[in-house]
Amino acid sequence: MNELIKKILKNKKIPERSSHGGEIYNFNKEIIDNIVDFSININVLANSMLVYNDFKNSFKLIGHYPDSSSNDLINSLIIYLSKISSQTISKENIVVGSGAMDIISTFFDLVINPDDEVIITEPTFSEYRWCIERNSGKIIEVLRKPENNFRINPKTILDLLTEKTQVVVICNPNNPNGLLEDKNDMIQLIQQLNEKNILLFLDSSFIDFTDDDGFYEHEIHNYPNLFICRNFTKFFGIPGLRVGYAVSSPDIIRYFKKYQKPWSVNCVGQTFADFLLKIPNFKETTLQYYKNEYKFFKEKLSIINGLKIYPSNTNFILINTEETGLTAKKIKDLLLLRNILIRDCSNYIGLNEYYIRISIQKHSENLYFLKEFSEIITNFSR
Ligand SMILES: Cc1ncc(COP(=O)(O)O)c(C=O)c1O
Repeated sequence: MNELIKKILKNKKIPERSSHGGEIYNFNKEIIDNIVDFSININVLANSMLVYNDFKNSFKLIGHYPDSSSNDLINSLIIYLSKISSQTISKENIVVGSGAMDIISTFFDLVINPDDEVIITEPTFSEYRWCIERNSGKIIEVLRKPENNFRINPKTILDLLTEKTQVVVICNPNNPNGLLEDKNDMIQLIQQLNEKNILLFLDSSFIDFTDDDGFYEHEIHNYPNLFICRNFTKFFGIPGLRVGYAVSSPDIIRYFKKYQKPWSVNCVGQTFADFLLKIPNFKETTLQYYKNEYKFFKEKLSIINGLKIYPSNTNFILINTEETGLTAKKIKDLLLLRNILIRDCSNYIGLNEYYIRISIQKHSENLYFLKEFSEIITNFSR
């Protein structure tokens, strides 16, 4: 490290970055155009439900600073959330950010002081770790077990609490397995943490795909320690516009807003998100599609020998390929030759080199995937 870097960084923690699904930018243009991306868990119907003419107006706003408080979007979210949770959610309960990632990082910047402990249940989304390490927090790791379909065990988490525990992070449904947690387990956990003034950070990035959507928003009035992070990335299908939001008690939201960067969410993102909430039958159409397609996809996968398929409530499925003798890397490389990209999950803590994640795409693409994947497993397994 040279003297300049030493001087400017001093003891600052600079954590390592990890890789994600959907990272297609390293391929050349021709490959990108032809690839079917099963690594990215975004609602495939979202694009077709957008009426682009409606959105032209949002571009007229780009000569102005965006509304720093995202007032219009928050008003629409109040209506949307109050409908799905049958609970009154008010302006004081919501903050909008630039994608879930902005919500996650601002949250940890706000609540973590050096040596505070944060419990994470692995395997899970890797960026919590990055946010905690940046703030010199201490990560306490709990493993989700394959034999429990990677669900959490509240008792194991509660046994690890100390005076230094500041936050417990739960991603529900969890990435990479997609399974919903048991609601009773979750309430037990939230309640016991609340009694000890410990925050529960609930990443609900995929909850819109499930029947539990709205359930936890209902609880924010009972549990002021509950902080729910949501986004427009996955279900509403606009990862490129970066819009997310959080729902929590007025006290936490107030401090969060004070701490957040000004103009976090651009005006196009704010307006698009607002329109998306108002598209008739968006939710029903998406849920029906994934219900049918998941059933079809899972049935076809279960015919292929040597796969352990984990249950999911979302638009992606975690698979263990150990019995086939084929590593995730090998399968990924073989599928890439057939223009299919999947998520090699071997870099998730708590998984090994035999885990892959497949996201359900359009029916015709799923048929293509199932044919090619089945052929590869049949021809190359030991
Ligand atoms: C569980 C989870 N949370 C948050 C994010 C980040 O979402 P966003 O793109 O809205 O920042 C991801 C992205 O993959 C995710 O899987």
